[in-house]
Amino acid sequence: MVNIAVIGTGYVGTVAAVAFAAIGHQVTGIEVDPVKLSALRTGTVPFHEPGLDERLRHELAQGRISFTDDLAAGVAGTRVVFLCVGTPPGPDGRPDLSMLRAAAAQVGSALADGAIAVTKSTVPIGWGGELRTIIAGTHPAGADARFGVVSNPEFLREGSATHDFLYPDRVVIGGDDEDAVDEVARMYRPILEQTFPGGNRSLQPALIRTDVATAETIKYAANGFLATKIAYINEIARICDSAGADVEIVAEAVGLDHRIERKFLNAGTGYGGSCFGKDLAALSTYGEDHGIELPILDAVNPSNIIQRNQVVGKLRAALGDLTGRRVAILGLSYKPNTDDLREAPSITIVESLLAAGARVVAYDPIVKGLPTAPGIAIARDAYEAATGADAVVLVTEWSEFDDLNFRELSRVMAGDVFIDGRNRLDPAAVTEGGLRYMGMGRR
Ligand code: UGA
Repeated sequence: MVNIAVIGTGYVGTVAAVAFAAIGHQVTGIEVDPVKLSALRTGTVPFHEPGLDERLRHELAQGRISFTDDLAAGVAGTRVVFLCVGTPPGPDGRPDLSMLRAAAAQVGSALADGAIAVTKSTVPIGWGGELRTIIAGTHPAGADARFGVVSNPEFLREGSATHDFLYPDRVVIGGDDEDAVDEVARMYRPILEQTFPGGNRSLQPALIRTDVATAETIKYAANGFLATKIAYINEIARICDSAGADVEIVAEAVGLDHRIERKFLNAGTGYGGSCFGKDLAALSTYGEDHGIELPILDAVNPSNIIQRNQVVGKLRAALGDLTGRRVAILGLSYKPNTDDLREAPSITIVESLLAAGARVVAYDPIVKGLPTAPGIAIARDAYEAATGADAVVLVTEWSEFDDLNFRELSRVMAGDVFIDGRNRLDPAAVTEGGLRYMGMGRR
């Protein structure tokens, strides 16, 4: 059992805090926002993540997790301090490190002798050096301070975050000090060996021990590749649309090649979320700052925006002028099982529709409004959204949309256009229901 402090209880911090408690460590979560703090203390996670509230309540009841807004008190006496503060994109595409720098300075003044500061936030490559300088600058022992600096990037996906944390493909620990890497690796042993209650002994997560800069680069390389893979299949989908080919069969056939693999070859309305776009932008600015040409990485975000706009292009092709047309949007969150709207394709699609003069009605199982388009109507279910609509667009593949009754949709709609923005549905079933099916690169 190790005493751990987790600074910042956003997505990564809350999941990490709860998961570290679940594998037997003693965790103090540090959160400055009073509303979030009181929610966490009473066992309520301030965002939607399936199963996390129950796990949090369980760990609170076991006494393995507590929360405070007093960073100095939370950090003092802990061996390992995880920095999980947000690094949102700044106006120029570079991550905004102001919150992280402020937290690191406070950590420095409270860090116990020999303790380890671990970065879990996604940070620009090279941040580890800056972290050392910031901590040394505020540490009571000044230049003589003894502490470890480690990078331990996170690969969890929203919607399955706790599962991804406890059953990872790999754990990456980068440090300039072998002892610090050893200590963090020991902390992860219940996950690496799957010995925690509910662990899966047949799973063998890999441990990658490396230096700080390599660990920081691994995070960007993974997200950059996944985003590129999605943008790539979406470009193939555009070719399929033009050629009358079917991207689903292309993806299946291409994915059977073990060197490529089928995962993350789902064509759709483009990727969203707080990570891919931001991390690609950070890679591009790294190239600019260091005089490195990165034409592939530079092209990924622009390609993704083109994909988001395909939906409106398809609607124009089907309906002509969109002025006064009524369009129902099914799904607003950037992916299912989350209430996160950051960089959601729905935002771009709704904005383009409104700019084209269309009337938009949306339904999402969890999200009940778009802050960027407060004027749009929000329906109570898919059928209410579709009532009187000229077209329905499935933007987020929530599982409840798998059971849509197309006859009923067709009955309540004014028109018959159904755009499956996620290639989720059976085109034959939609067509049999009396609707005109249009997928993304799908016959
Ligand atoms: C992503 C990575 O998958 C995680 O490994 C990483 O830890 C995380 O970013 C992060 O850096 O914090 P996440 O954004 O939660 O996780 O969600 P994903 O499941 O990766 O989906 C991202 C977006 O890509 C979604 O909008 C999704 O709909 C889209 N997507 C995904 C596709 O359009 N096609 C696919 O084949 C897969």
